[in-house]
Amino acid sequence: MSKNIGLFGLGVVGSGYYQITQKIQQFIPKKVVVKDPHKPRALQVAQLAYEADYILEDETIDLILELISDADEAHHIVSNALEKGINVISANKKLIAENLKELLELQQKHGSKLLYEASVAAGIPIIEVLETHYALEPISKISGILNGSSNFILTKIFEEGISYQEALTEAQKLGYVEANPYLDVSGSDAASKLSILSLHAFGAIIHPDNILKLGIEDISHEAVDLAKSHDAVIKLIATATVQEQAIHAFVLPTFLPKTHELAQVAYEYNGIEITSDYQGEQFYKGKGAGSYATGASVLSDVKKLALGKGYAYNKYLQAKNLHHETSSHIDIYLSSSNETIISKLGIQTREFIRNEEGIQLIGKVSLQSLLENQKAIENNAIFIANISQELAHLSIDRLGEKVLVQR
Ligand code: HSE
Repeated sequence: MSKNIGLFGLGVVGSGYYQITQKIQQFIPKKVVVKDPHKPRALQVAQLAYEADYILEDETIDLILELISDADEAHHIVSNALEKGINVISANKKLIAENLKELLELQQKHGSKLLYEASVAAGIPIIEVLETHYALEPISKISGILNGSSNFILTKIFEEGISYQEALTEAQKLGYVEANPYLDVSGSDAASKLSILSLHAFGAIIHPDNILKLGIEDISHEAVDLAKSHDAVIKLIATATVQEQAIHAFVLPTFLPKTHELAQVAYEYNGIEITSDYQGEQFYKGKGAGSYATGASVLSDVKKLALGKGYAYNKYLQAKNLHHETSSHIDIYLSSSNETIISKLGIQTREFIRNEEGIQLIGKVSLQSLLENQKAIENNAIFIANISQELAHLSIDRLGEKVLVQR
């Protein structure tokens, strides 16, 4: 059982963890390292320093909590500890997703364990569920809202009618947003989480850079109005499906009918649907961001290690040559004030409107084309959302304007 815990980071997650341990008087860190000596801190911590070696060079430390935002610095801390045979708990989805293979090898080679429940959907113990409850059962689909801040922003826009910027500022005040907000609103954070879930659900390692991701930054009022006129909402959905030996994985704003389970997941909450061979569809919901939700999730990992538990990576060890597939086509809605790169996307357009605000269209496009043009779509402030099957009838014609193409 770990007695001497070294904690890196007293930000949203670290301070949440620290405060909870003070309240329950268990698993209180022996030493804490933070980056910035000048930052004002509400928490009084006796054993505080600013150099990683304060913890890394202390041979009495037998568990490290890596709860910082810088993925490169986190990589140094985590790999250093695992190499020494010290167990680590991390909440850093970017670090974990980008280095899955290496982190698995380090654990195998040095007999150390790495747990990271708080890295995905904080309050939903989804990695534990995949590792144990679904250890032996094939999963064909995992889909959900994996980013609390963007869900908070979308909920505020839809339910309270406030602007994107106001909603983002509020989410930042509440401690939901990453140090770099781009990670949340661009879909990158959700892609890292989807990559981690794909390992535990399917045994597949997909680098998050290879996952198509489009964000919510450029959501237009036309898109919001269109959704409302169809009794729908827009949610940032991360999806991974397996067919035969092919995995399709992407993070996209998505039109969902209001009655859909995921449409009802509001504010900072996350929701995850799992479809598996024997249990069919199941749904999990919980807090996706926030200091106590993530801190408590770290605490649950501390307890798991104290009980001698770790990840078995069953699916990974049994996986048979799954490959990442991007050739399939999806239905999309697009709005943009400039048309420059749109012809490059190879969209099979079903409906198209041009007015003084720009263009809107509905059509079909390949995931590969979106992936290849991801940066250009982002740089040109083009908003693209997937249209769920339930809303296949979505039509911009209902906006009462002249539809130029209708096939
Ligand atoms: N910024 C993250 C989110 C925090 O909003 O989901 C939890 O990972």
